Amino acid sequence: MSDQVRIVEVGPRDGLQNEKTPITVEARVAFIENLVAAGLHTVEVGSFVSPKAVPQMASSDQVLRAVDHHPGSEFHVLVPNEKGYDAALAAGAKVIAVFASASEGFSRANINCTIAESIERFKPVIARAKADGIKVRGYISCVLGCPYDGEVKPAQVVPVADLLWQLGCYEISLGDTIGVGTPLKARQLLRAVAGSVPMANIGMHFHDTYGQALANLYAGLEEGARVIDSAAGGLGGCPYAPGATGNVATEDVVYMLEGMGISTGVDMKRLVAATNQISTLIGKPPVSRVASAINAAQRKAS
Ligand code: HMG
Ligand code: MG
Repeated sequence: MSDQVRIVEVGPRDGLQNEKTPITVEARVAFIENLVAAGLHTVEVGSFVSPKAVPQMASSDQVLRAVDHHPGSEFHVLVPNEKGYDAALAAGAKVIAVFASASEGFSRANINCTIAESIERFKPVIARAKADGIKVRGYISCVLGCPYDGEVKPAQVVPVADLLWQLGCYEISLGDTIGVGTPLKARQLLRAVAGSVPMANIGMHFHDTYGQALANLYAGLEEGARVIDSAAGGLGGCPYAPGATGNVATEDVVYMLEGMGISTGVDMKRLVAATNQISTLIGKPPVSRVASAINAAQRKAS
């Protein structure tokens, strides 16, 4: 297996957006700085969405401005419409992510419009970003199941992926928002989407509700996918995906990749320290199996 896998760390955005405990801008910035220090250089740091819809992502402009001083790092922010784009641009964003859905029920709940309407909203955003030299990532949620509409077939995902790719997204990240996928389904989905988007430009964004995320990633790696979204500690969840748990944990992904001989450049000790710090702040122990094992071993040794 080729040794080029890119991790997109989504903990500061997906990881924190659904937490109940208020988290200060300073704490969000410290979390991001700790992740960068651990060797995670592509980090999703916030969202330019309605603060009424997702209060935890308010002040993402301040977060982005505070962290945007690492020449080797890339910071992503979510943008749902032109209003969000204006704010992201003003805050100095260089990479944005638009986010669509493969299911109508989730599209309506999450961004209050149909899939077709969301694409119409993204068109001017992507066109302006192109003109401004800003890279655009495209998310598709509910690629393996929807909390409102139930099962989702690859045939529903492919046209959305195709549209976002044709519009100029440099990467399409496939979100198993409620973590119901299994390796066979993940494999079939990737094969189907790869008919429109080169495998190298497909991201795997798997939540771990049913404990299948690592297995799904392994299947995806076997198919040739090389971009993994994960969150430190296994944080994560979406306010519009009731019952869904966090993203696959970055520690667990790094441990698996290193075990496969794929070098990640991530300093595990520093990553676990970053996770522990944010976990203490939100008052929950990390769900990452690797972080838990390392913490337990450290407690035993001391
Ligand atoms: P809407 O109600 O259709 O929009 O919301 P609107 O244009 O009618 O505006 C309503 C209000 O929102 C107005 O304010 C606007 O100014 C404001 P009011 O007059 O009521 O005070 N507004 C904004 N404020 C700040 N920034 C903006 C913005 N746009 C409008 N950009 C909207 C549409 C998309 C804004 C809303 O539904 C929203 O913010 N939703 C939140 C979506 C979200 O962040 N979801 C979580 C992230 S997606 C996810 O987690 C999945 C992912 O991880 C992949 C996966 O796992 O599948 C990516
Ligand atoms: Mg997500």
